[in-house]
Amino acid sequence: SRVVKLAVIPGDGIGREVIAQAERVLDAVTADSGVTFEKTPFSLGADRFLQTGDTLSDDDLAAIRSHDAILLGAVGGVPGDPRLKDANIERGLLLKLRFELDHYVNLRPSKLFTGAPGPLSDPGEIDFVVVREGTEGPYVGNGGSIRTGTPHEVANETSVNTAFGIERVVRYAFELAERRRKKLTLVHKTNVLVHAGAIWKRVVDTVASEHPDVAVDYLHVDAATIFLVTDPSRFDVIVTDNLFGDILTDLAGAVTGGIGLAASGNINPDGTFPSMFEPVHGSAPDIAGQQKADPTAAILSVALLLDHLGLRDEAARVQRAVEADIASRDRARSTDEIGDAVLALLQA
Ligand code: NAD
Ligand code: IPM
Ligand code: MN
Repeated sequence: SRVVKLAVIPGDGIGREVIAQAERVLDAVTADSGVTFEKTPFSLGADRFLQTGDTLSDDDLAAIRSHDAILLGAVGGVPGDPRLKDANIERGLLLKLRFELDHYVNLRPSKLFTGAPGPLSDPGEIDFVVVREGTEGPYVGNGGSIRTGTPHEVANETSVNTAFGIERVVRYAFELAERRRKKLTLVHKTNVLVHAGAIWKRVVDTVASEHPDVAVDYLHVDAATIFLVTDPSRFDVIVTDNLFGDILTDLAGAVTGGIGLAASGNINPDGTFPSMFEPVHGSAPDIAGQQKADPTAAILSVALLLDHLGLRDEAARVQRAVEADIASRDRARSTDEIGDAVLALLQA
């Protein structure tokens, strides 16, 4: 029978709390699927760095790479904690995994579930996917600072946009749009970021000619934030660069009932490297250890993982259980209680 080797990185803060619930759901839904999940836990993150001084060793990376997929909670400490400066958990661990494992599609679906406590009075139907480029843009770390700390400091952070990198993610986005409502919106800032904007626009126009049935739209990122709040049902597939996608997906999470519901996949569509599934949110030091975190985003990330592995029925069962749970929420519940409820609905 089929064996899936899954690397599990619970990480820091609420990452560990939400992954505990996500693992229970994964175990339950795959119990009689005929697929065996062999899980390897990896202790990585800010806490591990504070204990051992390691961020992500070559051995860690090689071990993770030998798995079929990765489930991650969240990594990072209290923003600005000086003890974590050298670790740079965000770059040295999370982005290193995304870059080394060539996660060029950062897939972030946003759906307003019935009963979800969204902030909009008249949201309409919200169901879109942000296809965020995952390996380039201002995230690559190109740049530097001179005369650092002086009144004459100059700090540059260069955005890298390659034809190769843009084309592959844009192609993925068009293929996704073909399978959905056939509408694709490019989000950028072509009026100011003229060099990067021009290549993104050109690549989208070129690939669009191969998909005549997909309606293509363009929005500047500032306008996109307006429409995400005033008219979110206009979106189907949004394709955008690494930084704009980061910002838009926290907003999208807030608009669809809270960041605690927002799941994501860091996908290597070629299958050369394991893809990684994680909630959009971080380690939330402000609520960590208090059982206040909503594990739904982590549980929905399990659904994305199952779908990616071709376990469509299992993915759909998790999705349905979560939807039923959200529809029946009537009071504030702890992290574990939400996990209990989803498990019960799964077995119902
Ligand atoms: P955050 O997402 O951790 O928290 C933002 C706000 O959302 C907080 O008020 C938090 O309590 C709330 N929140 C987040 N997840 C929630 C959940 N499941 N249920 C209920 N409320 C939730 O963002 P931040 O505070 O900017 O970052 C904290 C740390 O996490 C930083 O070190 C950051 O770098 C890191 N981070 C990691 C990831 C990741 O591992 N993928 C993602 C984002 C941030
Ligand atoms: C996310 C996070 C990361 C990002 C950080 C922690 C590097 O905000 O997954 O959205 O910016 O991609
Ligand atoms: Mn983010």
